[in-house]
Amino acid sequence: MTIRGKKVVLRPVRLDDAPRFVAWFNNPSVNRYLHIRKLTLPEEKQWVKTRKKERPQTTFAIDTSEGIHVGSTSLILDKRNNNASFGIMIGEPRYWGRGLGSETVQLMLDLAFRKMKLHRVELKVYSYNPRARKVYIRAGFCNEGIKREHVRFGGKYHDVHMMSILQREWLE
Ligand SMILES: CC(C)(COP(=O)(O)OP(=O)(O)OC[C@H]1O[C@@H](n2cnc3c(N)ncnc32)[C@H](O)[C@@H]1OP(=O)(O)O)[C@@H](O)C(=O)NCCC(=O)NCCS
Repeated sequence: MTIRGKKVVLRPVRLDDAPRFVAWFNNPSVNRYLHIRKLTLPEEKQWVKTRKKERPQTTFAIDTSEGIHVGSTSLILDKRNNNASFGIMIGEPRYWGRGLGSETVQLMLDLAFRKMKLHRVELKVYSYNPRARKVYIRAGFCNEGIKREHVRFGGKYHDVHMMSILQREWLE
């Protein structure tokens, strides 16, 4: 499935995306915000194969409208409880701050709530990631708790913010 917005195109991940994912996950400017801090090409190829097989409808590469691959996004479903956890990475820092992330979040919440009829979408974000937090709050996510000093980065411990949005809040 491919989802088209104004600034981004969300498309299925491909095996030839793997080297870019490896570069992004190993870039300290990017992975400081992610739980993965190191990744090899064989591991990434395996991830792409598994995602294509197990979650073809909820894992996407993010391309710009010009067709440049800049990141990935996914919903990990909890089918029993009809909810999902959300993740996003724009791996090319020069594409940050251009509205690509905000539009991707909108498209993914539309998929989650209108098309898939999920009840709830949740995510985790590090306290030192104000860019991501702004995008999530603007999309309607609420803060629902803090894992205190859960992440160790740069020789310090940092809080992790738990956020969520419900279907009825999105539809309002
Ligand atoms: C987080 C991420 C998805 C956001 O996507 P993006 O395309 O960069 O975000 P947008 O351009 O849509 O919006 C960013 C907003 O944050 C604001 N912002 C940027 N830096 C900020 C800061 N230090 N403090 C507060 N707001 C900030 C921008 O001004 C912008 O708001 P505006 O549209 O009102 O001007 C993307 O930057 C990314 O993938 N980063 C690396 C990986 C990551 O952090 N993933 C999320 C893990 S939870």
